[in-house]
Amino acid sequence: MNLILFGPPGAGKGTQAKKMVDLYGIPQISTGDILRANVREGTELGLAAKAYMDKGELVPDEVLIGIIKNRLKEPDCEKGFILDGYPRTKPQADALAALLDGINKPIDVVLNLEVPDEELVERISGRLMCNNCGASYHRTFNPPKKEGVCDTCGGELFQRADDREEAVQNRLNVYKKQTQPLIDYYAEKGILVTLEGTKDINEVFEDIKAVLTKFA
Ligand code: AP5
Ligand code: MG
Ligand code: ZN
Repeated sequence: MNLILFGPPGAGKGTQAKKMVDLYGIPQISTGDILRANVREGTELGLAAKAYMDKGELVPDEVLIGIIKNRLKEPDCEKGFILDGYPRTKPQADALAALLDGINKPIDVVLNLEVPDEELVERISGRLMCNNCGASYHRTFNPPKKEGVCDTCGGELFQRADDREEAVQNRLNVYKKQTQPLIDYYAEKGILVTLEGTKDINEVFEDIKAVLTKFA
């Protein structure tokens, strides 16, 4: 099962991806998590990406295309994968299609989580993220069992640098301008399924499972 989880910042891509990994046993490929790990480790890639990320801008396409090419070659992707946060531009989508056509593993479905802007801002401003496994929590909507600590791995929870108010507004603008047009791109291919991302976390997951019964 080769999937794309699509949607604006704060739509719940990461939250749902973690639940899907547990159920279907295929990996989550979050380009945001990969970039943040590079920033944390101070790699050359991380140093180059940080300035874009802190402002809420997209990191250049050629960097992302390189990351995805390498990641999809890993053996854990053989049975399928969940792309979370990629593609975000038309060149990224074209590069992905070329790559997957080459290995005869097309995308089965694009799950598009729809959430209005006001709610996205509320979600992002209350988000806490695990510095070890990348799990997302929310101070009100999805608090960890123990304050400041990840339920699943015991990692420390932190607020993302790009979850500050100035960067959040820019991320929403960047999404609308550069990423949202991909909704039509995948709709034209006949593989887009739009889901109500405003439901609670478990209800959204039920809806995802219902869509995926024919692929799993
Ligand atoms: P990335 O890490 O991908 O961030 P994003 O797309 O902005 O998405 P988020 O991670 O903010 O949201 P999410 O949908 O995962 O929501 P979550 O599940 O956490 O990218 C970060 C940066 O990296 C980019 O700005 C860019 O600079 C760079 N980058 C990454 N990929 C790139 C690419 N392909 N090209 C170029 N640059 C790239 O949930 C959010 C909150 O809501 C949490 O608090 C959660 O607990 C809560 N929540 C989730 N679901 C619900 C629900 N149903 N009800 C109530 N609360 C909920
Ligand atoms: Mg995320
Ligand atoms: Zn964790």
